[in-house]
Amino acid sequence: MEPFPPLPPPRRVLLGPGPSDVAPSVLQALARPTLGHLDPEFLRTMDETRAMLRAVFGTRNELTFPMSGTGSAGMETCFVNLVEPGDKVVVCTNGVFGTRMAEVARRARAEVTEVQREWGRALDLDQVRKEAPREAKLLAFVHAETSTGVLQDPGPLRELADELGALLLMDCVTSLGGLPVELDRWGIDAAYSGTQKCLSVPPGLAPISFSARAVQALEKRRTPVQSWYLDLGLVSSYWGSERAYHHTAPINMIYGLHEGLRLALEEGLEQRWQRHGQVAASFQKGLEDLGLELLVPAHERLAPLTAIRVPSGIDEARVRRYLLEHYSMEIGGGLGPLKGQIWRVGLMGSGATRSNLELCLSALGAALRDQGWASDRARG
Ligand SMILES: Cc1ncc(COP(=O)(O)O)c(C=O)c1O
Repeated sequence: MEPFPPLPPPRRVLLGPGPSDVAPSVLQALARPTLGHLDPEFLRTMDETRAMLRAVFGTRNELTFPMSGTGSAGMETCFVNLVEPGDKVVVCTNGVFGTRMAEVARRARAEVTEVQREWGRALDLDQVRKEAPREAKLLAFVHAETSTGVLQDPGPLRELADELGALLLMDCVTSLGGLPVELDRWGIDAAYSGTQKCLSVPPGLAPISFSARAVQALEKRRTPVQSWYLDLGLVSSYWGSERAYHHTAPINMIYGLHEGLRLALEEGLEQRWQRHGQVAASFQKGLEDLGLELLVPAHERLAPLTAIRVPSGIDEARVRRYLLEHYSMEIGGGLGPLKGQIWRVGLMGSGATRSNLELCLSALGAALRDQGWASDRARG
């Protein structure tokens, strides 16, 4: 067949739940010439990436590196390495990603207790305490639930994990680089993330970090890790001093992550968290001024991701289509039980800017007016 013409340059403003817009210098880093995965220059890039990742995760954990694969590969890595058949695992679910964790844990043949909370609210700690079995091996939760825009405070979960004698596993896919993440201070034993949210790197890597206690649990396993590809014993021998070939690392993605982490540290983590907070606060206030209602109560709300209730009489998908056609802007819709009921707007990483929030507010206003909507508040 005749080849297709080269892809045209895309022109989108990515304000959905991820991927977010990729920083220009990250795109340049991705285009660097590919090196061999054992090239001494590339090995140095790997070491620098690990060091920067530790800083961004707020940890000194030796076992810290990016797994090849998206955020879900990070999730799966944590469960298949920490869980053996029959282990008791508690998964707190209040959205899509907690629910996915429970499914992954079941497939790793854990005995799973799923503590379910209403979508759009933070966990009820008394409920978790009541439903969690004693002697659970692992307590898992999502720090920033992207399907609803809820933030979970890790402190009380650490206390609960101590009561249960469990390791504490945290999903920080949407928080890393946009909200405070401090694994050591919070006592997190295992964490995974993704590159395509607040780090503004394309999807394709899953940073993970395991505490010394979690590493001990790996060393005490009675059975081999069910997945060869995600076996941390094997992958560590490539990222560690042995430099043993395991699989061919996605070299250019690691260049991209190196640059994304470098940008985050150059900006300063505190400043970056503050920027996300300030942009989100203005955006959320602007939405309320437009007369829109937010899904999550103010004290449980995320900065990088805001969930907006679709007003009655408005066609949810038509609004997203309007934004794409008229503003070349992507926002997300709801998932699962929230499908058709919310929009999800991500102001993440290099996309968390005043100009993006203003553009999004005026675009949303125009899309709603296009459907003849005028809220009581906006009318007032
Ligand atoms: C909180 C959370 N966990 C896990 C994932 C899964 O990551 P991925 O889609 O990169 O596999 C996502 C993706 O949006 C997420 O938001």
